[in-house]
Parts: sequence; structure tokens; C-alpha cells
Amino acid sequence: MHKRLFTPGPTQVRAEILKELATPQIHHRAPEFSDLYADIQTKLQTVLSTKNPVLLFTSSSTGAMESAVTNLVAKRCLNLVNGAFSKRWHEITTGNGVPCDVFELPWNVAVKPEMVDEQLSSGKYDAVTLVYNETSTGLMNPLEEIAKVVARYPDVFLLVDAVSGMAGVPIETDTWGIDFVLAGVQKAFALPAGLAVAAVSERALERSKTVPSRSYYFNLPLMHKSHLKNQTPSTPSIPHMYALNAQLKDMLSEGMERRFARHAKMAAIVQTWAKKHFDIFPEEGYWSQTLTTVVNTREIDVPGMIKTLADEYNLRIANGYGDIKNKTFRIAHMGDTQIDEIEGLLKAIESVLGL
Ligand SMILES: Cc1ncc(COP(=O)(O)O)c(C=O)c1O
Repeated sequence: MHKRLFTPGPTQVRAEILKELATPQIHHRAPEFSDLYADIQTKLQTVLSTKNPVLLFTSSSTGAMESAVTNLVAKRCLNLVNGAFSKRWHEITTGNGVPCDVFELPWNVAVKPEMVDEQLSSGKYDAVTLVYNETSTGLMNPLEEIAKVVARYPDVFLLVDAVSGMAGVPIETDTWGIDFVLAGVQKAFALPAGLAVAAVSERALERSKTVPSRSYYFNLPLMHKSHLKNQTPSTPSIPHMYALNAQLKDMLSEGMERRFARHAKMAAIVQTWAKKHFDIFPEEGYWSQTLTTVVNTREIDVPGMIKTLADEYNLRIANGYGDIKNKTFRIAHMGDTQIDEIEGLLKAIESVLGL
């Protein structure tokens, strides 16, 4: 029996969208492929409020993160770390031999613009990585305000992991001046994992031509060269592209404003519930709009609760991540999840816990 996913990725995929994955194969050098690519392109640009090319990666989000730091750091990168995925970005940067430093905060504390200002004023950096929405903690860093600070340093590129935010919360890529913003499609896009997207600024593409190549599969100049022909350099996951195109069409007919409002409403419902029965992990003012990390103040048996929800209600939520496993649990309210489904989930948790 399928367990309905309320996990912060992968998220629940609608049956109509799953069917798109079974579209008969086409050849990736045929004109119909380029039509599909171009179609997706325009829609992604709308979702991301950008005129920048939005490149497609046949990989999960980690591949696009690797692409950003291997192609766009000429001097030194600052990795802002306040959770598991921002820590991963530091590991990817060091792992690829890219010069970098880490600025680390406790996991429940948001990165503040003045902290970024202080770090960048050293003049050591030409790129900075940030996770917009930390899926490990349910914390949203103040991206717009941080972007304003980064914009004061014209040589510094802002590289943003918006993996569990994109398509669930607004991202004004061009207005905020984000050079690289990426996401995997298994979160708020509500598609199966295996494809990532990233909007890349013109100046980032320019710099990527001057940085000695550190990768082949994720080489931005090569990807951009193919992009200009509405193609990808290697054979992409075409089934994913059909599903993405259909999903983008549905998202745009829902309307991005309405989609974002639905996410905000679901977040408010879960946050109110969490505050009533438990507590919320990140500091107030920085709670995620797409998932909530609930603090286990009642010392409940978290794995037991998750198992009962799955076995008896066919609903799947997630335990806390890494060091905060069992001390927290996570409820995702993103993608195509509707308000009544979230309310139903909360009622089911109440009944499992006898609340
Ligand atoms: C914020 C964030 N960044 C990066 C990743 C890594 O993504 P993937 O597993 O798609 O490579 C995840 C996965 O959950 C994530 O939530």
C-alpha cells in the first residue's frame, strides 16, 4: 500500500504526472526534443522570475551544487553553514579542491545579512554559498536581505541552494541578483528525483569560461553551448522532462502567487499546531514555508509514531536529520499538497499520540 508522502523530499507525485514519465521516448538530437526543451525553458524562467538561462542537470541537486562551485569560484569561496545541506556544500567545495572557508552557526540560527557583510569585507572571496531553505532544520535564511549585502561586493557571486524552496516560495532571481540558484525537482516541484535545474546569470557564465575546468559532466560552458541549441551536452532524462513540462503547466495555471499563498497557509497551520503541542526548532522569524521541524518536547517515541502513521494511516513523515534525529521530526507542506491533506495529517498524528 502506498504511503502518502509528507516527507521533505521526495514529495508526493500526482498520478497524472507519473503518467507523463511513460511518454514514448524521443531522440535528444531531434527537433521535437528542442521544442520540449524550449517549452520548459520559458516556464522555468517564469517560475524563477528570470531572463537567465535555466540549465537542466540529469542528476539530483548535489550535481548542480557541484557545478556551481567547480565552475564559478576563481579566487575563494565562503560557505555559510547552519545545517546539514549547507555543510554538504562546504564538503563539495573542499572535496573538489576549490579554495574556501566556512562560516558556521548553530543549526537553529539563521544567517543574518550583517554576518555576511563582515565576512565579505575581508576581500578574500569571489563567491558565497547559501542554502535558502535548510531541509535539515526547517530554517529559511533571509535570502533577499543577504542578496542585498552581496550586491555591494561586485566581484562576489551569490550561489544559492533553493532545493526545498523553489516553486514553493517566491524567488526573484533577477531582482535580487542571484548568480546561480538551483533545485532538485523532488521537493516543491513535486516530481520524482533525478533532475535538477539552475538559473545561471550572464556574468556567471562569463566567469565560468575563465575558470580552469574542474569538471566535465557539470561543465557550465559546455552546458550553455548546448543550451543555446535547446539541447543538453549528454543524453538527459527525457521522461523527467515530460513530467516537468506538464507539472510546470499545471503550476502556472494554478498561478505562482496562489501556489505561494497555499504554501504560506499550510506553513501557518502546521506552525500553529507545532507551537500548541510541541515547539519549533529554528529561531522565530526564520521558520520555513515548506517544512516544519517540530521539537520533541513531549519526549515521544518518534520512530514509533512515524511507523504507526505509516502502517495504520499510510502517511509518511520524516524523523529529524542527523544530530537532531528523535529530538525533532519533520512535516513537509510543499509541492501539490493541499490544505485539507495537511489538516488530515495533523489529525492523524494527534490520534496516534492521543493528543
Ligand atoms: C537543501 C538541500 N540541499 C541539497 C540537497 C541534496 O539534494 P539531492 O539529494 O537532490 O542531491 C537536499 C536534499 O534533501 C536539500 O534538502
